[in-house]
Amino acid sequence: MQMRLSRSIVGASEAEAVRRVIEEDGYLGMGAETRRFEEELAAWLGVEPWQVITTNTGTAALTLAVDSLQAESRLPGRQGAVPKILVPSLTFVASFQAIVAAGCLPVACDVLPQTATLDLRDAEKRLDGDVIAIMPVHYASNPWHLDEVYDFARRKGLRVIEDAAHAFGCRHHGRKIGSFGDLVCFSFDGIKNITSGEGGCLVAFDRECAQRAADARLLAVEGDTRSRYAGTRTWTPDIKRLGWRFHLSNIMAAIGRVQLARLEPEFIPARRELAAQYASLLGGLPHLALLETDPEDFVVPHILPVRILDGRKEAFKAALEAQGIPTGVHYKPNHLHSFFAAGPLPLCEQLYDELVTLPLHPGLSREDVEAVCRAAREALI
Ligand SMILES: Cc1ncc(COP(=O)(O)O)c(C=O)c1O
Repeated sequence: MQMRLSRSIVGASEAEAVRRVIEEDGYLGMGAETRRFEEELAAWLGVEPWQVITTNTGTAALTLAVDSLQAESRLPGRQGAVPKILVPSLTFVASFQAIVAAGCLPVACDVLPQTATLDLRDAEKRLDGDVIAIMPVHYASNPWHLDEVYDFARRKGLRVIEDAAHAFGCRHHGRKIGSFGDLVCFSFDGIKNITSGEGGCLVAFDRECAQRAADARLLAVEGDTRSRYAGTRTWTPDIKRLGWRFHLSNIMAAIGRVQLARLEPEFIPARRELAAQYASLLGGLPHLALLETDPEDFVVPHILPVRILDGRKEAFKAALEAQGIPTGVHYKPNHLHSFFAAGPLPLCEQLYDELVTLPLHPGLSREDVEAVCRAAREALI
């Protein structure tokens, strides 16, 4: 079978969960199954159920998080220029689009070459009175330096929105990502550490933000989450602000619940073992640098990008692809897109010239990883 860069790992138990919703419950929209998924996510993270707001994509979770802060910055007496958010340019375009969708301006920042995560010194240079928040991205599931981001935010009076799309299941100094912080956004799209088909969630640590986000995901119908979970509906609401259709359906939640149960026994060990095998086979190869990750941290890698140095990236990709090994690029820096044009950001651009993503998902065997590393060695030596 053709090797895949990434893949959904779903099967009979997910299919059975969907069958149960269709044949036994019969209500496909947001209801009891979504509530249960939120409760189980909350229990797994060690937070309260009101803190977890599931959404139909990770991008939607980010949009709700930004929207919630944007709404606060526009309270009477606080009106001013368009609020800005500091964000590393080397991220999926979703982070930038969510910021713009919720009425803010992304301020593209540079990254650290050894981790491809936000460079706080560069972010500090771009700080002005219109910046309301900072959005660290846990690139390749690495939350390293997160404490420093929170310290920086505290010192500068900023809110923090973690783009933790890659980082479900990871820990920072022993604590699960999403069990502490300010606003933390996960993605459950088809290839993430767990999937609900498409989906995501926001974990909020402030009741007002959580309430605003829960309402905004249901077209800003106040209290609609509570009504739906009670099996009722508000017929004559008064809408006071912007809202979206961002809720997660019972069908998607049913898939997510099965995946959450598979995370610790199956997905975490598989991803970590494959990544460790890659590290041992690729370490020391010429013209190749592994991204650094804090050895004390518990990283559950969603993707496996490596740096191919000395202008060899394109030849390296071509050599692997000639052997049927797919590769990817995470990411074209957002400041290079016409819509977000900014810069220059030299380290993002350097990494864009170097980064190649290798196959990683729990459906790979140890022999698959050996084959990729053999092809990498042949391409570089
Ligand atoms: C860094 C990052 N942010 C945000 C997202 C958006 O998540 P979703 O695809 O669930 O909308 C992704 C998804 O790939 C991502 O990788």
